Amino acid sequence: MKARIPGTPKQSDDERLLTDPELPAMDKNVANVLAELRQDHRNMSLMLNLLEVESNRLFDGDDTDFELLYDIMHYMTVYPDVVHHPKEDRIYAELKAVRPDLSAGFDRITVDHRHIAELGVRLRDDVASVNSGGVVPRKSVVADTLRYVNTLRGHIQWEELDLFRRIEEMIAGGHEFFEVATFLQTPDPVFGPEVEANFVRLFESVKERLVEED
Ligand SMILES: [Fe+2]
Ligand SMILES: [Fe+2]
Repeated sequence: MKARIPGTPKQSDDERLLTDPELPAMDKNVANVLAELRQDHRNMSLMLNLLEVESNRLFDGDDTDFELLYDIMHYMTVYPDVVHHPKEDRIYAELKAVRPDLSAGFDRITVDHRHIAELGVRLRDDVASVNSGGVVPRKSVVADTLRYVNTLRGHIQWEELDLFRRIEEMIAGGHEFFEVATFLQTPDPVFGPEVEANFVRLFESVKERLVEED
């Protein structure tokens, strides 16, 4: 990515996309973006199931895989919070601009995204503290994990059963493409085309767990 020359005005995302050939632009087809968001939800739900299993083990006093807990929360704070939720904010903004009639109750969304990010960072930091020998009460890790899992599950369900259907209605009404591109295509570091070095351990654990479940 090119460095910005000090003193030059900061470019908007749209301008950067037009002028920086190294940046992949987002897909302007709304249905494609919606399909990506749904795939993200499936991956996130898998992570939430694993979190729940580990927190139940912790509650029962069984061996708990804190490295896995950390890896999952690291992933949640760098992909869903940084890529998935802003992408949704963008798609909802499109709906609000094009179909205000379908946008009732939208004010809660960005608040929800912020709340989920805060809960996620707190849990990630708790688990990091346990892993580095800190004293964090088992009860509070269990409670924070369950709060995070339930909050995010409820949020995903709201989107799948309500908000995404409104987006589909917008598409069916003839608005199939985003007006402007204002976010970048950032691949998923675990489930995307390439597993990022930081997430190889998580990727292997997920694969192992899925094989065990079969
Ligand atoms: Fe969301
Ligand atoms: Fe979502």
